[in-house]
Amino acid sequence: MVDPLGVALGVFLTLVVVAVHFTRGATWRAPEDISQQVLERRAATVAETGFPEPGNRAIGAGGGAAAAVAGGAEGELEEGGTEAEEEGPWSLPDDEAETFEIEFVKEGATLEVAENETILEAGEDEGWDLPYACREGQCLSCGGHVTDGPSEDFLVHHGQEMLSEDELNDGYTLTCVAYPKADFSIETREAP
Ligand code: FES
Repeated sequence: MVDPLGVALGVFLTLVVVAVHFTRGATWRAPEDISQQVLERRAATVAETGFPEPGNRAIGAGGGAAAAVAGGAEGELEEGGTEAEEEGPWSLPDDEAETFEIEFVKEGATLEVAENETILEAGEDEGWDLPYACREGQCLSCGGHVTDGPSEDFLVHHGQEMLSEDELNDGYTLTCVAYPKADFSIETREAP
């Protein structure tokens, strides 16, 4: 026997479901696409540079140079010329580079170091854990002391910006940007 109350309840629930389905609030609507707005707002907070995208906002020491190279004729290196383009022992091919005997006093070893190689690189090639930070001549982390006299009598510095004339004359050097041009002895881990 059919229960009229059950039928009525079933009909009522069906109507409720149908009503909810066609109500506005139950329909899913995709949110407005604001990605373009977000991108534009973000771009407005970053300073403009002369370099073309995408390399112009690279972070770190190598980013600027990489961006400039990627920028070709528009890069600042092309216009003004910087240390990266300077000629020097660092730009010599390996088969043309002369070598010198460098005594590393604290390490107790004498190495043949090519004139296109830095003192820091030569030590690292031996597996020595020599100190460094910027590798661009802009700190004193890689400092060393030439025991034979003024450091620039024995080394060519490529872009060192930390040592004064007096300190250079006292024999101090930044090994990360120092290329040998004569035989000499050096104490690593020494800064003025
Ligand atoms: S590591 Fe900074 S000057 Fe050499």
